[in-house]
Amino acid sequence: MYKLYVNPNVKKGHINKELYGNFSEHLGRCIYEGLYVGENSDIPNVNGMRTDVVEALKEMKLPVLRWPGGCFADEYHWKDGIGPKESRKKMINTHWGGVVEDNSFGTHEFMELCRQIGCETYINGNVGSGTVQEMSEWVEYMTFKGVSPMADLRAKNGHEEPWTVDYFGVGNENWGCGGNMRPEYYGDLYRRYQTYIRNYGAVKPVKKIACGANAGDFHWTEKVLETCFDHSSGCLMDGLSLHYYTIPNGRWEVKGSSTDFDEKSWYQTLSRTLYMETLIKGHGAIMDQYDPDKKIGMMIDEWGTWYDVEPGTNPGFLYQQNTMRDALVAAINLNLFNKHCDRVKMANIAQLVNVLQSVILTEGEKMVKTPTYHVFNMYKFHQDGELLESSIDTTRIGVEDEFKVPNLTESVSVDAAGKIHVTLGNLSATESYDIEGIFAETPVKTVKADILTEKMQAHNTFDAPDTVKSVSFDGIKVNGNKISLSMPACSVMHIEVTV
Ligand code: AHR
Repeated sequence: MYKLYVNPNVKKGHINKELYGNFSEHLGRCIYEGLYVGENSDIPNVNGMRTDVVEALKEMKLPVLRWPGGCFADEYHWKDGIGPKESRKKMINTHWGGVVEDNSFGTHEFMELCRQIGCETYINGNVGSGTVQEMSEWVEYMTFKGVSPMADLRAKNGHEEPWTVDYFGVGNENWGCGGNMRPEYYGDLYRRYQTYIRNYGAVKPVKKIACGANAGDFHWTEKVLETCFDHSSGCLMDGLSLHYYTIPNGRWEVKGSSTDFDEKSWYQTLSRTLYMETLIKGHGAIMDQYDPDKKIGMMIDEWGTWYDVEPGTNPGFLYQQNTMRDALVAAINLNLFNKHCDRVKMANIAQLVNVLQSVILTEGEKMVKTPTYHVFNMYKFHQDGELLESSIDTTRIGVEDEFKVPNLTESVSVDAAGKIHVTLGNLSATESYDIEGIFAETPVKTVKADILTEKMQAHNTFDAPDTVKSVSFDGIKVNGNKISLSMPACSVMHIEVTV
């Protein structure tokens, strides 16, 4: 019997809803086909945005969306994507698949998409190949209310009112595709570019995000903070990003198949996912030296699995399937983000539709929700909750010593209505476990639960879209301040508890 201890009386911090964010790039079939089909499409749409996808994203309460990249962001010139569509510039998307980008999805379309979903906006600016003026004018174009060249241009293009830009990223992966910079150089550029991201009397100030490290590059974090941190005027940034992808065998050249894998690969993948905690603690410790009050958020704005592309698809499109393995990767990471909500203030899985660890896949007019979607849908109750003190007994499992993992993962929060939400993952591919949940001295009144469970390679296809989906779970017994259940192998569970 594995004991889960929950203390309903000890709140550990606020879980920003933005931990459940997503990322959409002009890459493969994410924007075009996945989100935007154009107003004249036969696929049901509102102002060009796929209705089925928007409805699914509303259901899972997508809180914030990052756009336009990714590596694409540092090649994107926003003025190419405004004005009459027929006169927008066509270009080759050199980074992703060498296909024609016709710029029919630009700033107005992104804002319209976020309006329909009801989510916050996270725009990523171009430092690698863009100018300070270009970035500054983009912010003016989007947010200035009144008479100004950019506000006038926006009105001329059909949008009189400014939009809200919740987050603005100053470059993306500037250590790599965003300009191959050294951290000191990027730090100086960040200081300069961020100066011109003005708050034009907006009700909600734009939160500025600096480009952070690639995985375990702690030197980058150290040097960027050293260069940017201003002890006299305080923080020059609201957030510092971090990118970490789970690659099953740890090798970029042969990453492994999304669906055809064995138990060895299962545990390697989950073990490499758990490295996220080392990264949060390591980068967090450096951030603590500069910012002990934790005013700067760690924004993990790219995370998820990265496999070989599906056979027969464009290698530059990064299209991959999504199995129960991805569900467990999502469960582990989201529990970690909750547990570290004192420092992690936003996280954006890569990417929303048809790219890497997507929550949705589309093919023509068909759409499927992936196992990862179902995890986000089950975990949505944590959004803007208060993290509760909790822990679980675990044992280490796996087939190779180097890649042993704890058998269980958990996090617990309480929502504004006082309901407690427990999310659990069973990392074993084969074993079920008996769990006893103990809620301190507090008697439990009611429980209800959903579960996602199937064999490890199970996934949804366009012909069988509901092979993996969450269903209600009625196997929980309540006894005073305790609950007990048997958690099947390879499963993710959400339990709602009233006390
Ligand atoms: O998500 C795909 C790519 O991964 C992004 O464009 C880039 O930022 C990262 O390397």
